[in-house]
Amino acid sequence: MTITFIGHGYVGLVTATVLADFGNKVWVVGHTKEKLDRLKKGDPIIYEPGLKELLQKNLKANRILFTSDYSKAIPESDVVFIAVGTPPKNGGEADLSAVFKVAEKLGKHIKPGFTLVSCKSTVPVGTNIKVETILKKVKSKKAEVAVASCPEFLREGSAIYDTLNPDRVVIGSDSKKAIDKLLELHHPISGKRVITDLASAELIKYTSNAMLATKISFANLISFYCEKTGADVENVLDAVGIDKRIGRIFMDPGVGYGGSCLPKDVNALIKIGESLDIDTSYLKGVVNVNSLSRSNFTNKILNVVKDKKIAIWGLSFKPNTDDIREAPSFYLINELLEKGYSIRVYDPAAMENFKKIYGKKIQFGKDPYGVLKNASALIILTEWNEFKQVDLKKIKKLLKKPVIFDGRNIFEPKVMENFGFSYFSVGRKAISPPRHSEGV
Ligand code: UDX
Repeated sequence: MTITFIGHGYVGLVTATVLADFGNKVWVVGHTKEKLDRLKKGDPIIYEPGLKELLQKNLKANRILFTSDYSKAIPESDVVFIAVGTPPKNGGEADLSAVFKVAEKLGKHIKPGFTLVSCKSTVPVGTNIKVETILKKVKSKKAEVAVASCPEFLREGSAIYDTLNPDRVVIGSDSKKAIDKLLELHHPISGKRVITDLASAELIKYTSNAMLATKISFANLISFYCEKTGADVENVLDAVGIDKRIGRIFMDPGVGYGGSCLPKDVNALIKIGESLDIDTSYLKGVVNVNSLSRSNFTNKILNVVKDKKIAIWGLSFKPNTDDIREAPSFYLINELLEKGYSIRVYDPAAMENFKKIYGKKIQFGKDPYGVLKNASALIILTEWNEFKQVDLKKIKKLLKKPVIFDGRNIFEPKVMENFGFSYFSVGRKAISPPRHSEGV
């Protein structure tokens, strides 16, 4: 099959590369020359494990091609995926202008015969119908076009694995031809097939991300109860999660959810609800707990660390990515800078992206230990593997005061106590906290 992806972000580029690897010819259309030049040379721009190698392999085999020219890609394509961004507007609703602009542009180049156009971008209910209307208005008479919603559920950091092994492949369309085409295209990919109407497919993606956000906020809410009562949130959630109706997965408490999807999609679902006159207080509660999990954690630091020199490990919104969109680290760093703290940071992948924003306002280290010297506390915000089995003795020696704030609960309190740390985590008892008045 010949396929076009419009957009080369996480969803567009990863899916395009995987489909090229199956032997399809895949065009990827973008509009920034500098980015396209890098992609043509095998530089995926984003950091995603395994992507560079897979991209270079398929570039070599001439199965993946990059262009800004719609007239090269669209006329020879059987399937066109729209995978452009739908960023939040000021009010939180999804900005669909890129989707509609792209639909208008591509529609003019659709070949005579059948072409399927499918939105991979996360879009509110009714968007695909609008895309179909645009396509039908601008296409040539001999071109037959059908639309389908085929949402993507890949996670950053494991995007290639998720694309190859999804739990489900959702296909929403009123056209049998469109459904058959997408079933054929997904043939080498595992996962349960869910065939449904357009509106349901569009809503499935929002529901899924809102449910994931709900699980995280619920875990964080319970962590607040634990901190007030002396209970241990990990023990509570482990026991609760044994119940198969609930499950333990995606209920890790911490400094809250970030990234390019969960925050944006919950807010967009709130906006969709408001436009439909639905009470959205439940979803607003999810967002509120997420903000509280950041501010509670920051307050612990502000209450304890009086000597304002600190080290931070982890800037990306989750491990195995350099993506910093809506990362909890932003919130914390901004708060601490405002209160006059001097900050040294280390992250295995996201520092270049952070440097573009903070410049010299914070200092960047080359390795985890390098940022610790003379710092009054270490703060952990992302659970990168390389932080999990560090040399605790070395950390204690380097820090001016042996104090750790662990926003991802990566260490065992008992172990930290044995090593003589003051240790503050989420929803678990603080270890030998110095009295507030004394501070550290
Ligand atoms: C998410 C969805 O998981 C994916 O299906 C969808 O296609 C895109 O959005 P992603 O944004 O890559 O994927 O990250 P995800 O693994 O969902 O994590 C999102 C955020 O939640 C991260 O900041 C992570 O640290 C946080 N999180 C996750 C928790 O705080 N606790 C958890 O238990 C799980």
